[in-house]
Amino acid sequence: MRAHILLSVLVLLSRGALAAPPAVDPAMLELADRSRCLTCHDLDETVRGPAWRDVARRYRGKPEVEDALVSKVHEGGGGAWGNDYMSANKRVGLENIRVLVRWILALP
Ligand code: HEC
Repeated sequence: MRAHILLSVLVLLSRGALAAPPAVDPAMLELADRSRCLTCHDLDETVRGPAWRDVARRYRGKPEVEDALVSKVHEGGGGAWGNDYMSANKRVGLENIRVLVRWILALP
């Protein structure tokens, strides 16, 4: 497990995700990894889902979207970024999803 986390942090480092200051909180990356978000998302690159910095940019100054994003991540949904659909993430507790969404929305 520890080696796995270290490996994903190294992968992110090599992609430059942690290069730009202020540094990305490793505990949040670990939560995102544990929650399986990183199979479809990256901070800087579009994978299956949009780059999280693009998500932050789109909703900057619109904190009212938080609740809708939390339910969308939990229930799954599409239509906002392209033709792909985010499957439900129901194994991830709502509290953790809220923590993740807040963090994503605040990404520089
Ligand atoms: C199976 C792939 C997949 C997984 C796993 C996944 N996502 Fe997504 N995510 C997507 C796709 C595809 C979209 C774009 C959906 C759309 O166009 O509306 C998306 C969109 C988003 C958005 C933006 C939604 C919007 O309406 O603008 C957020 C925030 C997000 N994901 C967070 C997460 C978090 C947090 C997790 C982990 C708990 C996660 N995603 C797991 C594929 C995934």
